[in-house]
Amino acid sequence: MRSVKSSMIGRKVGAVCHAIVVVIFVQALGLKTARTQELPPPRIDEEITKQEKIYRSQGADVPTGYVTGRGLSDYADLLPTGFCDALGKLGSADRWLDIGAGAAQAMLDYYAPKDDAAANKKCAGTGKARAVAMSIEDRRTDQWRQQAASLGGDRMRYLSGKRLRDYLSEELGKFQIITDVFGGFSYTEHLSLFVDKVLSLLEVGGSLYTLVPGVHLENAKDKLGILYLTELESAAGRPEKVCSWLKKASCVQVTCESKIDWKRPTEVIKIQKVCSDTSVPSMKLLEFVSGYPPSRRFQLEK
Ligand SMILES: C[S@@+](CC[C@H](N)C(=O)[O-])C[C@H]1O[C@@H](n2cnc3c(N)ncnc32)[C@H](O)[C@@H]1O
Repeated sequence: MRSVKSSMIGRKVGAVCHAIVVVIFVQALGLKTARTQELPPPRIDEEITKQEKIYRSQGADVPTGYVTGRGLSDYADLLPTGFCDALGKLGSADRWLDIGAGAAQAMLDYYAPKDDAAANKKCAGTGKARAVAMSIEDRRTDQWRQQAASLGGDRMRYLSGKRLRDYLSEELGKFQIITDVFGGFSYTEHLSLFVDKVLSLLEVGGSLYTLVPGVHLENAKDKLGILYLTELESAAGRPEKVCSWLKKASCVQVTCESKIDWKRPTEVIKIQKVCSDTSVPSMKLLEFVSGYPPSRRFQLEK
């Protein structure tokens, strides 16, 4: 008798809890709808104009979080395992492209390692590849100009005034190593076009070394309270992870190292081109909010 009574009480408590959950859920939905109605997503063109201002900022106007002077040892710390060894092994006929180079300090360190930091020495190697730094805005320093002039020829080039997508592949030529540290990969509004272009510039066997901050990680659960910066979804609107998307590209081998303990969850990514006929599943931009880096939402086209 007692157990029948207690099971009835249990069921009643269960029903009340269920009702509370339903009410909270309905209220949350209502709130979400109301908020969505109050706050339409920011207009993409206005945000892109704001983003331009960040690129063009100079001197005291450069936002503190827009870091443009990372050196080679920072690149070694941030990029995938194996980056330093690969860069150090390049010879004088090989080529390295750094997309989103900022002040190109990493390249200066490569050509003239100032300190004895083990990472710098290892990355700099003995032979020296021809190096091309690319940035939308010109952030060359006097040190860069002097170093490039003393090397002569086209050992160190700095390209600015355009985005990666605005260059013809023939203009740039092919590279054994492409790096991107908080550059185009984190900033572009044309994600699949960007990766497509990078792949077209790699020699077969060559690799892109990069990272994407603020993403849903391939090998870790989402944490509460994270502000995600780059969010992807399938054509049907289901969440898609950046690494699972990249692994759908053809003629590439993708390796992702999920950094769950970094300031933002970050995928550290190596993409090796393994044959020439590369293609990347196309993504369209749904949302863009300026920043350093901006926050973006993309959807697979099919
Ligand atoms: C935050 S800075 C990073 C600079 C450098 N990699 C560092 O870590 O110090 C961003 C750089 O990416 C460049 N950038 C952003 N989008 C780009 C694109 N689509 N093509 C080429 N450069 C781009 C900017 O012009 C700038 O040089």
